[in-house]
Amino acid sequence: MDKIVIEGGTPLEGTVKMSGAKNAVLPVLAATLLTRGRNVIEGVPNVRDVTTMIKLLEDLGARVESYSNEKIILDTSKADNPEAPYDLVSTMRASCLVLGPLLARLGKARVSLPGGCAIGARPIDLHIKGLEAMGAKISLDQGYVHGKADRLKGIQFFFDTVSVTGTANLMMAAVLAEGETILENVAKEPEVVFLADILNRAGAKISGHGTDIITIQGTTSLNPIDCTIFPDRIETGTFMIAAAITQGDVTIENCMPQHVEPVTLKLQEAQVDIELGENKIRVKGKGPMESVNARTHPYPGFPTDIQAQFMALMTLAQGQSIIMETVFENRFMHVAELKRMGADISLDGHTAIINGVKGLSGAPLMATDLRASASLVIAALAAKGQSIISRVYHIDRGYVDIEKKLLNLGAQIRRVK
Ligand code: EPZ
Repeated sequence: MDKIVIEGGTPLEGTVKMSGAKNAVLPVLAATLLTRGRNVIEGVPNVRDVTTMIKLLEDLGARVESYSNEKIILDTSKADNPEAPYDLVSTMRASCLVLGPLLARLGKARVSLPGGCAIGARPIDLHIKGLEAMGAKISLDQGYVHGKADRLKGIQFFFDTVSVTGTANLMMAAVLAEGETILENVAKEPEVVFLADILNRAGAKISGHGTDIITIQGTTSLNPIDCTIFPDRIETGTFMIAAAITQGDVTIENCMPQHVEPVTLKLQEAQVDIELGENKIRVKGKGPMESVNARTHPYPGFPTDIQAQFMALMTLAQGQSIIMETVFENRFMHVAELKRMGADISLDGHTAIINGVKGLSGAPLMATDLRASASLVIAALAAKGQSIISRVYHIDRGYVDIEKKLLNLGAQIRRVK
């Protein structure tokens, strides 16, 4: 298993280009099951979750005509196997995104229930409840979700909890359903809005995406998808924080400032210097940071996927910061590791109280989940001495070449087998 070794204390300097958004490309890949033809997707980030999703689609009968330089051509003419195998689905929750498209395309699906993961149980009860409301017969056995449906019917459905992939799954199912579907209390993440736009370009009739209510007029078929994935806002936020914590001067290119507004505002509140450009952001650390409170919330609120990284930053701020995690039930796995580096953090349920300290010291660290591992990299970049982070396969799920990008910014970082 690879490890990442970091000698902390070097301010990051220079420019870095963001890769395509992992959480945008995963639903778009699943959506190719709604079409029968050659789908062309560019700007595909080469991360493990994407490789897993592509393997899954091949298992379902899709054919990768070509995949290089972040461009994939995926032929789904013969994607007629309804079964998603456990060994793939269990490694990635986002595999549940094929459930809606399979039921819409084939009228049947057999998808292994996604395993929980470090950050929480991550049920898909709302996905199932919505699909059942659309007429699917869903049963669970031996860890598989079995679904059957003649033709899905349009419904009015209210999400008890805002769910990003829940919204994507039901929206995709509704595209080929009979009649009108109204989804309420939906996710407004840019990745959901992007998916709706791409489906509309392929012939779907979706409106209201980006608001609390999405309406879909069912149709009978879609043309193949042809799109370019936008830059990853979570990678952008991660690098903004890495620049701030190392008191560096970094220009992040190929990014979308409007997607990271809550992070920008929080960093400015912490006295970090931020200059916004058309599709770039310049982040300069300018001395000690102020402690700032944060509370995660579905988009456009402060993203839960940046909570761990922001907490690492606050360990070195001046004063006390209160961070509340309202989206997932167990997303503080990074806290124990940060404390081993000398951070002063106490937990009270879903609330973390961080008292800033003068400095962190490098240590052997264990990554537990994707964004917690990003938080450890960030802390290690600012810590005094060497850190060795193990189980970095977590970080490879969502970041393209993170150590190369950091190395180009002057970090003393290397990956060891
Ligand atoms: C998406 O996960 C992202 N993943 C996550 O990013 C992100 O953290 C999350 O949205 C929240 O923004 C992808 O897009 C592939 P949810 P998702 O359904 O859709 C509960 C990363 O680091 N819930 O919005 O799985 C759920 O337990 C990953 O890139 C139900 O109770 O998250 C959670 O508490 C991590 N029942 C809350 O809703 C359901 O049926 C939000 O989950 C569905 C969700």
